[in-house]
Amino acid sequence: MPGLASMNNVIICRNERFRIYLDQATIQRRVEEIGREISRDYEGKTPILIGVLNGAFMFIADLLRAITIDCEVDFLKLSSYGASKVSSGQVRELKKIDADIAGRHVIVVEDIVDTGLSMQYILDGLAKHEPASLRVATLLHKYEATTTDVQLDYVGFRIKNLFVIGYGLDYGQIARNLPDIYILDE
Ligand code: IMP
Ligand code: MG
Repeated sequence: MPGLASMNNVIICRNERFRIYLDQATIQRRVEEIGREISRDYEGKTPILIGVLNGAFMFIADLLRAITIDCEVDFLKLSSYGASKVSSGQVRELKKIDADIAGRHVIVVEDIVDTGLSMQYILDGLAKHEPASLRVATLLHKYEATTTDVQLDYVGFRIKNLFVIGYGLDYGQIARNLPDIYILDE
């Protein structure tokens, strides 16, 4: 059967087995907590949330709905892994932000921080525009794989150093539509 065959919490994606790791309800609860935290921390301010395409589109959509203060949204896009499961370490910007972030409170919203190279690249680039503040919200952190010392201000889940798919995260561009997050079954 082509596509994502699912049975007993196991899914086959590109001929590899993944098992369920974080279900929809667990993700939703945590995203709502982070939304409340951001709403408290930025009370009286209007932060700009910058989503990193493509992976963060689902997280940022849910996060925005959990934020109860005024906020703006924008996006940037970096080149992806291609169809590989290992970080290439090569980062390229494919789309820049449109917003003028000088003097603004900026929160970068990512799906996952792995080596941290992408995030380092993003933060270095955004810092040049002199925002009033610059923070990071990432749904997932593969903390054992991180080689840079980027500060992650809001972290949904600290996870094992294994490839994950679903809830925006892809494997060779597919699997982003899965509502739950699955992890490679070794
Ligand atoms: P880093 O530069 O190594 O931190 O990689 C970050 C980017 O690689 C993330 O924004 C994701 O798009 C992608 N990535 C890292 N790990 C995974 C994974 O387990 N599944 C899917 N994409 C991943
Ligand atoms: Mg990403």
